[in-house]
Amino acid sequence: QYDEGEVAEIIADHAGLEGPMLPILHGIQERYGHVPEAAVRQIAAALNLTRAEVYGVVTFYHDFHKEPRGRHVLKVCRAEACQAAGSDAMAGAFERALGVKFGETTEDGQVTLEAVYCLGLCAAAPSAMLDRRIVGRLNEAKIGALVEEARL
Ligand code: FES
Repeated sequence: QYDEGEVAEIIADHAGLEGPMLPILHGIQERYGHVPEAAVRQIAAALNLTRAEVYGVVTFYHDFHKEPRGRHVLKVCRAEACQAAGSDAMAGAFERALGVKFGETTEDGQVTLEAVYCLGLCAAAPSAMLDRRIVGRLNEAKIGALVEEARL
């Protein structure tokens, strides 16, 4: 539930910093799981910036999300080492199993599928991460198990 007063407090907490925008955005995302449109407007007004400027920052950093995410986030590595190990096929299998494309969330709000560019587990490529757990050497069976777990 968006709460203007609460967002104003988060903004006020960081407004005195030299670079207040990132801490403010992090604070808002921590509270709401994403940076809602209304917050972008509020931040722009408070920092004397245009909405486009605030949006620019939100879209530049992959850490920030404009839409609410699912209860679980499944990230599939699409960087080089994983690609060389067949991650494109794995990515397709995840999309089919979940019925969503990358960047989308299942209709029940349970799982968001995202691409990531290297999880630091290249030696065990292809890899993926469910919430905070990294899984390497993906294969059909592991994909099935991860999707099942994410759907719980
Ligand atoms: Fe996928 Fe490094 S390229 S883990």
